[in-house]
This record gives sequence, structure tokens and C-alpha cells, in this order.
Amino acid sequence: MNVLIDEATLQAGLDRLAAEIEKRYRGKPLTLVGVLLGSIVFLADLMRRLTIPYGVEMISSRQVATESNIQGPLFIQADLLAPEVAGRHVLIIDDIYDTGETLWELIPQFDDFKVASVHAAVLLKKKNRQRVPLGPTLVGFEIPDVYVVGYGMDYRGYYRNLPYIASLSPEEMKNLAQNGG
Ligand code: IMP
Ligand code: MG
Repeated sequence: MNVLIDEATLQAGLDRLAAEIEKRYRGKPLTLVGVLLGSIVFLADLMRRLTIPYGVEMISSRQVATESNIQGPLFIQADLLAPEVAGRHVLIIDDIYDTGETLWELIPQFDDFKVASVHAAVLLKKKNRQRVPLGPTLVGFEIPDVYVVGYGMDYRGYYRNLPYIASLSPEEMKNLAQNGG
């Protein structure tokens, strides 16, 4: 395991993102929409920093990594969303922007709710992986194309608890899949 973003750097990035969100959304009705499951630690830390008023909703998008395929099928469940987002500025909060397919599928689902605007803030963005013509508006950190864990992100349930971001090698992933931690 290789530490990519240590705890102090991560927290400084959160301060930066929170300041940017306050600047953009001060005086506007804002709803944060967290994407379960990997974003919950990121979301909670952002929430503690924001001093402007905001609502919070959660939607679910799960991509279950399998041994042979890091990116399994995508299951998006947007019906957790309450109709109260109508007329509000939505900021989707996700852990990683990788290919962009999650956002690409999610954004049109807000059309039905007549929101004022939809943007996304992600903690991490992988370089050179984008496959859709739509990117996140706010990015905490750009990272290389490696599999990362920690700060809410897991591999098969492992390492969500880490207070920093680390990368796992293919060998480490294979080992965890076969033998556990
Ligand atoms: P995208 O749809 O390809 O942009 O993938 C975004 C989603 O895939 C993220 O919200 C994560 O749930 C998951 N994901 C992509 N890369 C990683 C990773 O390195 N570690 C953990 N989850 C990842
Ligand atoms: Mg996710």
C-alpha cells in the first residue's frame, strides 16, 4: 500500500473545497447530494466545514469491484431523492471521478426535479480516464490511474477507515480477494 494523499494534505484540500463551495453558493438555495457509499466520509467532513445553509440528500450508485474486473456494473438508485430539490442548486458530492459514467448517468435524472442547477464536486479525479463529455465542476485532487482506498473508499470492504488516501497494487488486491486482510 502506497500513501498518495496524507491526512494533513487531505484536510487542507477539504478546507479549499469548502471555501470554494461557500463562495459559489452563498445566498443561493443549496442541496448537497451525496453519492453512496464511498462519499460519506468526504461529505461528512465537508458538512462540518460549511457555514452557509444547505440541505442534504443521498442517492446510491454502487459499482462492485470483482476479482477480475475493478469496475463492475453500475447500479444507480436515484429514487431516494426527495422532490424538495425543485428550484434548488444541486451539488453532487462523489468520492472519485474516474470515467465519468456515474455523473453522466446521474445528471439527467435531475431534469425531472426542475432544479436550478446541477454541478458535481469530487474529492479525487483520475487523470486521462474521462470517457464522457462532462466533468466535475470542483475537484479536490487529481491522481494517477491507480486503484485507491481510504477516507470512505474501499476494496471489498477493506480500508474505508483510513484517514488518508492510499493506492493498492494489483498484487495486493489479488491477495485481499483470495486470502482476506
Ligand atoms: P466513474 O463512473 O467511472 O467516474 O466511476 C466513479 C465511481 O467508481 C466512484 O464513485 C467510485 O465509487 C468508483 N471508483 C472508481 N475508481 C475507484 C478507486 O480507485 N477506488 C475506489 N472506488 C473507485
Ligand atoms: Mg461511488
